[in-house]
Amino acid sequence: MSRTLGVLISGRGSNLQAILNAIAEGSLDARVGVVVSNKAEAQGLERAAKAGVQAVVLPHKDYDSREAFDEAVLARLKEYDVDVVCLAGFMRLLSPVLVRAFPGRILNIHPSLLPAFVGLHAQRQALEYGVKVSGCTVHVVDEELDHGPILLQAPVPVEEGDTEESLSARILEQEHKLYPQAIQMVLDGEMRVDERKVVAI
Ligand code: GRF
Repeated sequence: MSRTLGVLISGRGSNLQAILNAIAEGSLDARVGVVVSNKAEAQGLERAAKAGVQAVVLPHKDYDSREAFDEAVLARLKEYDVDVVCLAGFMRLLSPVLVRAFPGRILNIHPSLLPAFVGLHAQRQALEYGVKVSGCTVHVVDEELDHGPILLQAPVPVEEGDTEESLSARILEQEHKLYPQAIQMVLDGEMRVDERKVVAI
């Protein structure tokens, strides 16, 4: 598999930054071909510019349907010959238009140990539930929210007195290590998806 990533963002872009850093340090053997943001104000766009990476803004509100938006995203990913798509804080549910165009090659990072705490505010959900360990998950994207086969997970302890901010920061540190590692795994073809499980080959 060749090694061009497309990174989809909506905001801060710290996971995009972690991917760019891992590439610069040589621990991730890939290039970011294009960053696509559905928000013009996303801070991640500045990170892309700083790294000299192409970035495109596609405001989802400009499109009549989820599918029409995904068609536009797909066209950009194809234009830049993307092999693997990385969702990095991308706040849009993908339709089958995108999921089926990149079978097994769209990854997402989520700030909980899935299948616990899907959706928004996963760290707040973890605190409210009272778990003692949370963490982060990189998984292959399917058509359900935060649901596809799990590639890698990292546990993170919940500490006495944690707030949403402090727990999020501790999890984020692990996210930044885990995501480049999982991407490299996929690029190396060290896994295949069997039913809903990712198995080593
Ligand atoms: C991360 O916590 C990620 O797990 C979740 O959204 C957040 C994105 O942060 N999907 P950033 O934009 O990468 O800084």
